[in-house]
Amino acid sequence: HEVYYKEEMDSTNVQAKKLAEQGIANHGYLVTAEKQTNGKGRRGRSWSSPKGTGIWMSLVLKPDISPYNASMLTLVTALAVNRVIREQTGLESYIKWPNDIVVNGKKVCGILTEMSSELDYIHYVVIGIGINVNTKDFPEEISERATSLFIESHKTYKRSRIIEKIMEYLEFYYEQFTLNQDLRLLLTEYNQMLINIENKVVVQEKQTSFEGIAKGINEKGELLVQTEKGIRTVMSGEVSVRG
Ligand code: BTN
Repeated sequence: HEVYYKEEMDSTNVQAKKLAEQGIANHGYLVTAEKQTNGKGRRGRSWSSPKGTGIWMSLVLKPDISPYNASMLTLVTALAVNRVIREQTGLESYIKWPNDIVVNGKKVCGILTEMSSELDYIHYVVIGIGINVNTKDFPEEISERATSLFIESHKTYKRSRIIEKIMEYLEFYYEQFTLNQDLRLLLTEYNQMLINIENKVVVQEKQTSFEGIAKGINEKGELLVQTEKGIRTVMSGEVSVRG
């Protein structure tokens, strides 16, 4: 894999998109920094990315799939990162749909996927992964919701080793997703790691909200929620799911 590394960047996602636009970053290109000065989270939020304590990385992909199926890429990434965290730390991490990784109820990793596409063609996808690895403390605004591998396990980790393993597993799950028409294995594994499965969730859409029991994801990556009126499918993006 080609790697673009700089000590400091505004955002590895922003840089990865630029390099993809310029035709420099091809499929599998990795962008990573020690520190982000303008780290981006989902829904326009910022992502705290202090120097040296975390993994701030973005992967460029050029998948030959329909844009319609692209949200599965984020779920595939969550599956890979969750597995690496479990294997490298022994912690019982879980996936919070669609793509947060949590340990003891607090967030340790977030994923931000951005895509450039036409109706039926993907130019490129940038998958941004932020993991709090050796972080000792957080800004007050997020300290109740955020945690790190260090805080949970009292050990420090070599970040390059974790990045290597993420690339390895991502490739494995990515191939399962793109080469295999049969997504059952992936879905089963994802649903096993889903923290809210069989639990009550409150789905907050733009205007309304509803309650139900989370049943897992379907082959489009949508969350299935059992309500009094039947099963509803929830697309990622505009919604938040609370336990
Ligand atoms: C979220 O949970 O809100 C998503 C957070 C994604 C953070 C990562 S860090 C590397 C990459 N570059 C960014 O600016 N954001 C993502």
